[in-house]
Amino acid sequence: MSAPVLRLEGVRKAFRQGGWWQRRTVQAVADVSLSVMPGETLALVGESGSGKSTVARLALRLLAPDAGRIWWGEREVSGLSARALRPLRRHVQMVFQDPYASLNPRMRIGEAVGEGLLIHEPGLSRAERRRRVAAMLEEVGIPADAHDRYPHEFSGGQRQRIGIARALILRPRVLVLDEPTSALDVSVQAQIIALLLRLQREHGIGYLFITHDLALVRWVAARVAVMFAGRIVEEAPVEALFAAPRHPYTEALLLAQPAAHPRARREETVPAAEAPPADQGCPFAPRCPHAREDCRRQMPPFIEEGARRFACWHPRP
Ligand SMILES: Nc1ncnc2c1ncn2[C@@H]1O[C@H](COP(=O)(O)OP(=O)(O)OP(=O)(O)O)[C@@H](O)[C@H]1O
Ligand SMILES: [Mg+2]
Repeated sequence: MSAPVLRLEGVRKAFRQGGWWQRRTVQAVADVSLSVMPGETLALVGESGSGKSTVARLALRLLAPDAGRIWWGEREVSGLSARALRPLRRHVQMVFQDPYASLNPRMRIGEAVGEGLLIHEPGLSRAERRRRVAAMLEEVGIPADAHDRYPHEFSGGQRQRIGIARALILRPRVLVLDEPTSALDVSVQAQIIALLLRLQREHGIGYLFITHDLALVRWVAARVAVMFAGRIVEEAPVEALFAAPRHPYTEALLLAQPAAHPRARREETVPAAEAPPADQGCPFAPRCPHAREDCRRQMPPFIEEGARRFACWHPRP
């Protein structure tokens, strides 16, 4: 069995918000453990503010965790300085949501895609670098004459292809994708997903794929982790999770997807007015239609059931 290309264990991150007159601490990531295997996609889903992007930034070590451990392959990177991380960064790359914002408008496409090579393979000649960039652009379906053009000359879908080329030129083992297609229209989205799946198959890259779109999850991922209030509340193989969610929050999330369950919408499982999370006990209890007294007293531990796990005192059947 091969080892994970990315692993998080008990990772936590809090932010301070507000000015001195009204300081509060937000526990953006309360306790997250996950792993991504080579060539595998783990989808990370959950409502807005549940901490998905913070997990992405921790996984990429753009943020330092307050607690917990992070590995890139065999290498633990939780406590490394920016300087120590620099030579390792090529193994873990990122594709952003917004292809417009992620490319420098004043940088030619060739420079943008080849930038990583300048840093990580400084010995390459100019001609060699240009050849590598051209090959990479071809791989993502961008014409070779793009090299000396600027981002504004390309469509959103093409720019996302360029963003993917930029991430992949260093041949990373892991790609963190934070809503990579949500800024694109549906037909372009399908092309980009097909491209990502092909590149994954050909290069065996592990994907941590963050999305709101559960239909997309079924298409791209083998496993899915559901986040609520900074924690993973359920993790399971995709088919098992869609067939029978065990955590009430997962169930609510599936019911809220109109396309997935058109007729199930009648049952409103999550009250519209957002209840504050409990101080102790299950954080979902204030919103959970199945919560009982014990749910509010103590945090549920993970229950493992074969390939799935969930944190709930009274799981769904
Ligand atoms: N740099 C920061 N400073 C202060 N608070 C932050 C910071 N980054 C995130 N947060 C807070 O942490 C929580 C989780 O945010 P995060 O962006 O990780 O959520 P998300 O699941 O990615 O949401 P979305 O689906 O809207 O992208 C939110 O309450 C957010 O306000
Ligand atoms: Mg986000």
